[in-house]
Amino acid sequence: MDLVTPVTPSLEVAGLAFAYPDGHQALFGVDFTVGRGERVALLGPNGAGKTTLVLHLNGILTGGAGTVTVAGLPVGKQHMAEIRRRVGIVFQDPDDQLFMPTVREDVAFGPAAAGLKGPELEERVDRALAQVGMGEFKERPPHHLSFGQRRRVAVATVLAMEPEILVLDEPSSNLDPASRRELADILRSLDVTVLMVTHDLPYALELCPRSLVLSEGVIAADGRTAELLSDEELMRAHRLELPFGFDPRSVTMGA
Ligand SMILES: Nc1ncnc2c1ncn2[C@@H]1O[C@H](COP(=O)(O)OP(=O)(O)OP(=O)(O)O)[C@@H](O)[C@H]1O
Ligand SMILES: [Mg+2]
Repeated sequence: MDLVTPVTPSLEVAGLAFAYPDGHQALFGVDFTVGRGERVALLGPNGAGKTTLVLHLNGILTGGAGTVTVAGLPVGKQHMAEIRRRVGIVFQDPDDQLFMPTVREDVAFGPAAAGLKGPELEERVDRALAQVGMGEFKERPPHHLSFGQRRRVAVATVLAMEPEILVLDEPSSNLDPASRRELADILRSLDVTVLMVTHDLPYALELCPRSLVLSEGVIAADGRTAELLSDEELMRAHRLELPFGFDPRSVTMGA
């Protein structure tokens, strides 16, 4: 008998296929599992289906074939509120996520809708803002912040829900090198499962021990990031290019 208690994976995607209403099929049977506490990069060329896949993880898109399961709970109409709490998606554009008059209200919005109030709500907001180093900006209007600061607040709005899995679509885009590094430090410091869509391959290597390559709507590779990025044939086949002079073997990753 197996005496080890199996930990339910944060995310299980099985046989996921999806065509948009215009008939364009974007996913052709996607299978993968992300274990609790893993950080996984989702790589792939433009049009591969990455965003389409992400939109299935919390039920924004539904109606295709296959299943998505978050910590054992199937994504479906029955428990959408709980799924939205468990799957925190940080969209590429923070302005899609921030719409309240102050940072505080934006970060409080989700937990308040989930029933938190009073000192408990305040603590939740403070903790999420502290996690992204934005505590002093609590009373500021989000539109008075820089892009990089708004992205951090967007991450905080999701962390405030204490999600099972944090899903980020292009987290390093439009960040200056210092902000890009600071966000990497923040992501590394979080004790949460992460799935990160990115075209920034050095960022994937630095943050994610494991990567998935999505190409033409299927998982073309699933393995250690350092190995995938060193596989020149695989990289060429899926239009993945490292920055000029970048050697994936030269980077030692913080696990
Ligand atoms: N609303 C839509 N209706 C029809 N087809 C769509 C729609 N949205 C995306 N597609 C198509 O689905 C495919 C996958 O698109 P998706 O946005 O998921 O790609 P992606 O991997 O996120 O690309 P990128 O790296 O450019 O963000 C593409 O061929 C795209 O043209
Ligand atoms: Mg996309």
